[in-house]
Amino acid sequence: MQVPCTRTHYRMRFKPPSFPDLSRHFPAFFNPSFIPTSYSRSFFPAMATLSTQKEPLSPPTDVTHKTHQPLQVAKRLEKFKGTIFTQMSLLARKHGAINLGQGFPNFDGPDFIKEAAIQAIRDGKNQYARGYGVPDLNFAIADRFKKDTGLTVDPEKEVTVTSGCTEAIAATMLGLINPGDEVIVFAPFYDSYAATLSIAGANVKGITLRPPDFAVPMEELKSAISKNTRAIIINTPHNPTGKMFTREELQTIASLCIENDVLVFTDEVYDKLSFDMDHISMASLPGMFERTVTMNSLGKTFSLTGWKIGWAIAPPHLTWGVRQAHCFLTFSTSAPMQWATAAALRAPDSYYEELKRDYMAKRAILVEGLKAVGFKVFPSSGTYFVVVDHTPFGLENDVAFCEYLTKEVGVVAIPTSVFYLNPEDGKNLVRFAFCKDEQTLSAAVERMKEKLKRN
Ligand SMILES: Cc1ncc(COP(=O)(O)O)c(C=O)c1O
Repeated sequence: MQVPCTRTHYRMRFKPPSFPDLSRHFPAFFNPSFIPTSYSRSFFPAMATLSTQKEPLSPPTDVTHKTHQPLQVAKRLEKFKGTIFTQMSLLARKHGAINLGQGFPNFDGPDFIKEAAIQAIRDGKNQYARGYGVPDLNFAIADRFKKDTGLTVDPEKEVTVTSGCTEAIAATMLGLINPGDEVIVFAPFYDSYAATLSIAGANVKGITLRPPDFAVPMEELKSAISKNTRAIIINTPHNPTGKMFTREELQTIASLCIENDVLVFTDEVYDKLSFDMDHISMASLPGMFERTVTMNSLGKTFSLTGWKIGWAIAPPHLTWGVRQAHCFLTFSTSAPMQWATAAALRAPDSYYEELKRDYMAKRAILVEGLKAVGFKVFPSSGTYFVVVDHTPFGLENDVAFCEYLTKEVGVVAIPTSVFYLNPEDGKNLVRFAFCKDEQTLSAAVERMKEKLKRN
């Protein structure tokens, strides 16, 4: 079914997006000598994109030939050659540090979902799946969305299954954004937005959320959104801050979007990790479903980040664009894992309650521990991240602090400057992840108590 897009005023003027050039701010981490002229083992870490979530690329072991060609990359991705996460992980390994940087659990997902995947493989569900999702999963996603938001969506026409939320993000940007379109993001932001917006050729406008509460600066937002804005990206609960957008904030954004005919792309992968308030889906606000793409995935909710099953829910006129891009990005995603994800989404309420309880206990260990160490800890209402101010310890910026923490203390955190359009905004802040077993969290706190001294 082809549904025409309701927007007609595409702006084709191309203005390259501006993203942080971290090399100017943190030369130590972007030392050009790190980018060699030949394909040696030390070359390959430099290829990793800025990602906080994935294992860094390991140097391949089967490279036997050497060339002397300069690095090549399309201009749209030139800015993303940063290697800070690879550097942090290499440092972590070298110093035997406890890794509270990477955003994935160090424990496994539930057996009933793994059994469902094994069963699906045994049942022969192993060939290409239907492009927009196996029917059972589209139905399960629509059911879950109804339970969560009260909205009834058509599983066949309004749900698209993707390879993780990452692909939902890419398909949404590529399917609905034209070169030169203005897109508003709240900084700090998950790094996939920057890369995919760059690929889409968007003109990015950032609005900075500032500590202590990372509240939306309403006046700034009101003057930023205009009829020239194509879309705004929201991530709630929010990586890296743990902020959850309040109803008041969402309502203000919603009315500005309706007034200016702006689309909303909302990333809700941490919706089930909402601790201090109820998660609110933008799509559930009056008048918003028809202009919203809601993106989510299996990974965080079921501690199965490696499975990479995600989805985008949107009205047919937006789903069309998302599916057009998805069709050529991956076409379809892992069939047996989709069947297992359908089983996961039918988990009883008790599963979600227990998940929250467990994560709140982990959050308490880390937050109390960080306070006892001497950090200024900002509130984390959702996600499995907490952001702290490292300045009591006297290091020059977030990168220098994280380097010190890894080398001298034996704990890894993530510098937040990489999440900002202007890296200076993040120089006092670092992010810790608490998606780790309690023993690991306590051990990290003990190391910091012992070795990290306030200035
Ligand atoms: C805010 C946010 N969105 C999307 C993703 C990616 O989700 P997935 O693993 O389902 O692709 C992450 C991963 O960490 C994230 O933090």
